[in-house]
This record gives sequence, C-alpha cells and structure tokens, in this order.
Amino acid sequence: MTLAKVYVAIPLQEAGLKLLRGKVDFGVWEKGGTPPRDELLRNLRDAEGLLSGIPVTVDAELFDAAPKLRVVSNYAVGYDTIDVPEATSRGICVTNTPDVLTPATADLTFALILASARRIIEANAFLRSGDWKAWEPELLVGREVAGSTIGIVGMGNIGQAVAKRARGFDMKVLYFSHSRQSEAESALDAKQVTLDDLLRESDFVSLHCPLTNATRGLIGERELRLMKKTAILINSARGPIVDEKALYTACSEGWIWGAGLDVFTKEPVPLDEPLLKLPNVTTLPHIGSASRTARDAMAVRAAENLLAVLQGKRPRDLVNRDVLTLPPLSSTL
Ligand code: GLV
Repeated sequence: MTLAKVYVAIPLQEAGLKLLRGKVDFGVWEKGGTPPRDELLRNLRDAEGLLSGIPVTVDAELFDAAPKLRVVSNYAVGYDTIDVPEATSRGICVTNTPDVLTPATADLTFALILASARRIIEANAFLRSGDWKAWEPELLVGREVAGSTIGIVGMGNIGQAVAKRARGFDMKVLYFSHSRQSEAESALDAKQVTLDDLLRESDFVSLHCPLTNATRGLIGERELRLMKKTAILINSARGPIVDEKALYTACSEGWIWGAGLDVFTKEPVPLDEPLLKLPNVTTLPHIGSASRTARDAMAVRAAENLLAVLQGKRPRDLVNRDVLTLPPLSSTL
C-alpha cells in the first residue's frame, strides 16, 4: 500500500511526529524558521497534506504547486497566514489547534501585564548594569495591577482565560466583542462595553481577537489617544492589529504609560524597530503558547487533524466548515 505524502513545514515535536510514522510518508523541515519558498513548493508537489505553522504563507501560489493537497493542518490557533477562502474553493480542509494553548497564552499575557506594570525587564537590566546603589522610595516605581480595570478586546477562549486570571487579581473586567458572552458575564462579572468606552476606562487593554480585515489596524492613533495616560496596551494576539508607528509615538510622548508586546507586524521583528528602543515597552519573540505542555499538545492536535482528513474523517478543529459541502472526503490511508 502506498502511503499518502505529507510535508511538515516546521520542526514538529516528537509527540506529533510519532503519530504520523507508519501512517503517512512524510518529510520534515528540521531546521529553524521556515523552508525557503522553492524548497517548500517542491516538497508539496505530490503532497496530500501540509502541516504548517506561523512562518509559512499558505496562498494560491502554494495551492497551485500542490495539486493533490487535501489538508492544511496549522500548528497555531490563529490562521491569518492561510488564504482560507482559496483553500475552501479548492476543497482543501484547513484546521488549527485551539484550546490546548489557551492556558499558556493567558499565562504569558499575564506575564506581560505584570512585567510591563512593574518594569521587570527594565529592573533586571538596571541591577545587572551595576547602577543599583541603594534602596530608594522612588526606585523603579510602576503601576499597581491588583484592583485595576482590564479591558479585553475579543472575548473568545483566550480572552476569557485572561479575564479569569484578572479576577484572581481583583481586577474589574470590561470586554469588547461582537457577541455577548453571558457565561463570562456571570462567572467573571465581566461587562460588555463599546471599544471606545473600554479604551477610556481600562488600566490595561489586552488584545485577544484574531487578525482579520476588520481587526487590522484596530488600535491606531485615535484609539491610543482615547486611552488613559496611565494605561498599558498588551498585545499577545497578532502584530498588525496595532498600528506600530502610532504606538511608538504614544509610548514615547506619554499618551499612554507603556506596552507589552509578544507579536509584531513583521516577525522576527527587525532590530531597528523603534519600539525596541523604548524602556516602557516590554517585548517578547511571539512565545504566547510556548510552554512544554501546550507545544506538545499542539503537535499532537495538528497531527491528529491532518490524519483525520486523510482518513476521510471530519477533523476535530476544522476551520472552513463549508468545505464539507463540497464532494465527500475520501480516505487515502
Ligand atoms: C499563536 O500565535 C497561535 O495563533 O497559536
């Protein structure tokens, strides 16, 4: 029996690879980052499955180069790097890895909140530079997290997990979402407000919406000017949701107190990005879901989704549900 060909375009953990062994004939990109485009396309020539990740752009050009492709299994919850309508029109299933990374991403968001508010990165650098001469009442004074107000933009799984943590810090929770989250309202005492009210009233504004045409540039100059001068913007969702030029001006001219960023418009963020020069901006290299538990679980989930499609089953995390209205899936395994 010939096995279906699959290309794994990221250095996937063993937890996922072992599920693929013996079931599909797969190649893996084992180096860091992402394969050069021509190598990626070459590896997809006969492939029925692609296991992709954040650095891989999955578009019409890729689909043209992969005429047998039936599934793109994304190792991430966000799938803004994939042209989903194009995949659907070609009958290709797209899957992602929700849920398993929710706690890790919410934890990291809270790490950014605390690090930004209490100037942890700056304090660590200060100590190591030898500048610490004495304990002083005004040394590295930050903002209090406990009892403050958090505004959550996008109240999906991750937004709600952040709200839950915020309640543990006695924070008041506001949220902006197109749909009302009644359960979160009763369980977390969260209040739905307009985006403008959220920006005006929050001490921490934390972004948890997907990147779509509607959310690209959602936080620009107008929105940053609505925020309190003492407020902190946290972005652990996607870089392009924020206008980085406007954010630089806001943080350097004191429209807001600072920012904590795990994501950037261009990743890896170029070292000459002005935001990296500001002491009141905490920056991380897109590590929201990078806990051992979450990353291994993502590998398993991505492998399972990929195999399900190739076995003619409905994958657990199908993003483009309308693809199933197309001719029925058939098993090639
Ligand atoms: C990470 O950013 C993800 O979307 O999973």
